[in-house]
Amino acid sequence: MGIISDTKDRITDIHIHVVPGVDDGARTLEEACEMLRLAAGEGIERVFATPHDAAFLNADVRAVFRRLRQAVIARGIPIELHLGCELRVSAQTAARCLRGLADGVYPTMGDSRCVLLEFVFDTPLEEYLYCIDLMRGAGYTPILAHLERYAQADPRFAEALRGAGALVQINAGSIADEGDGELRRRANLLLSEGLVDFLGTDAHRMDRRPPRFRTGTDALRRLYGEEYAALVSARNPGKYLL
Ligand SMILES: [Fe+2]
Repeated sequence: MGIISDTKDRITDIHIHVVPGVDDGARTLEEACEMLRLAAGEGIERVFATPHDAAFLNADVRAVFRRLRQAVIARGIPIELHLGCELRVSAQTAARCLRGLADGVYPTMGDSRCVLLEFVFDTPLEEYLYCIDLMRGAGYTPILAHLERYAQADPRFAEALRGAGALVQINAGSIADEGDGELRRRANLLLSEGLVDFLGTDAHRMDRRPPRFRTGTDALRRLYGEEYAALVSARNPGKYLL
């Protein structure tokens, strides 16, 4: 995108399961590299690999991540890699998650103070706000993963979360999704109200939610303008995560 000039501002997927063999994402190093090659072809220049939190209890994710990064460099795949984590939180587990972050079991997003959070589907607003407050109180900025996937996530809901200090990620694939229309409808409602901060693919495998990005970002630019597209795809990641 032409209006992106700062070198920190690169097109970024902040949510992808590409560390091989540690969660339900890429199974092998080969598959991970294939996903990242596809991501690069989709216009992505930087990714935050975000394994599910349980991976960090069961495997040496950081070592596998380092091997992946070496392979990406060796193969000349033009993608900059950072490590993050997708933490599933609830009122019951939020304190445990915080301890894991403080103890260094779970990484934040890159070297930032941002953490990527997901919730179970019917979590009420009060529970989101409780978890956000807890995270903020400990000095973290929560990013809510794929908010458009939650049926309750209308603009008022998202405004309340952002008002409490959280940031919002949606999946690029939802913007022009051709499924039942609900994901597309919610994603576009959030975008039209300016309530989205980041994009992700939430890609898992080549045959299961591959890293598709360009159809979504094309629609984003067409419908909401270059400026907003640049903000959520590149400027905000540069501003908050590096
Ligand atoms: Fe995910």
